[in-house]
Amino acid sequence: MTGLLSVTDVSKRFRGLTAVSHVSFDVQPGEMFAVIGPNGAGKTTLFNMIAGAMAPDGGSITFAGEKIDGLRSDQIAQRGIGRTFQLVRPFPSLSVEDNVVVGALMQTNELEGARNIAYEIMSQLDLLGKRAQIASSLTLPDRKRLEVARALAGRPKLLLLDEVMAGLRPTETDRIVAILRELNRAGLTILLIEHVMRAVAALASRILVLHHGAAIAEGTPENVLRDPAVVHSYLGAEAL
Ligand SMILES: Nc1ncnc2c1ncn2[C@@H]1O[C@H](COP(=O)(O)OP(=O)(O)OP(=O)(O)O)[C@@H](O)[C@H]1O
Ligand SMILES: [Mg+2]
Repeated sequence: MTGLLSVTDVSKRFRGLTAVSHVSFDVQPGEMFAVIGPNGAGKTTLFNMIAGAMAPDGGSITFAGEKIDGLRSDQIAQRGIGRTFQLVRPFPSLSVEDNVVVGALMQTNELEGARNIAYEIMSQLDLLGKRAQIASSLTLPDRKRLEVARALAGRPKLLLLDEVMAGLRPTETDRIVAILRELNRAGLTILLIEHVMRAVAALASRILVLHHGAAIAEGTPENVLRDPAVVHSYLGAEAL
């Protein structure tokens, strides 16, 4: 069965460095799928290829049955893939609300409609109380939730999340975990890159592990997080 997203034998090289090497996986509709692996393993590069920020050197990517590798990032966003950036980049001098409205204007030209979408999403992301605040004045947890809100405002079918829990305290992590679970329950398919294993184990139905650009394991959290190769290359012996 082919998934909502199918990545087949995808590779990316930067001069001498192979950042992603022959990676294949499928994400099914409604699934929460996690990509984990050490720093520099190729996770963000993989996202950049799915989202159209860069084209793969080899392999193919399909979304909802249509080939998307080689399309521009705006064309891919239009087809229903939303993404967050590892280094969050809201418009710093705009308010929270206007940042989310800009995201919503991706899929409607009508300002009133965009404001309604923004209101709904700020409410889902616990940002309504901060709506008038300037983005640059937000704390890290609020900035991370704003980044998710901006991506969601384009009404994606598939949401790519690049380390949205990095640097957060456990209570803030739990808050995002609860929000993502609710979004997923409402039908959103989510592909997340994450180093916070507690969150990965709580959210993901399947995990792909990258190491030096290659997929070294794929499966359920119970199996993957106990896989000796994964423990050795990434989690460390203390994880056992
Ligand atoms: N645009 C680029 N040009 C050259 N090299 C790059 C580029 N982007 C990434 N790389 C290199 O490719 C490799 C994979 O990087 P990538 O950012 O995909 O890793 P990552 O798994 O997301 O790591 P982290 O967990 O630290 O975010 C690294 O060695 C990185 O230095
Ligand atoms: Mg990264």
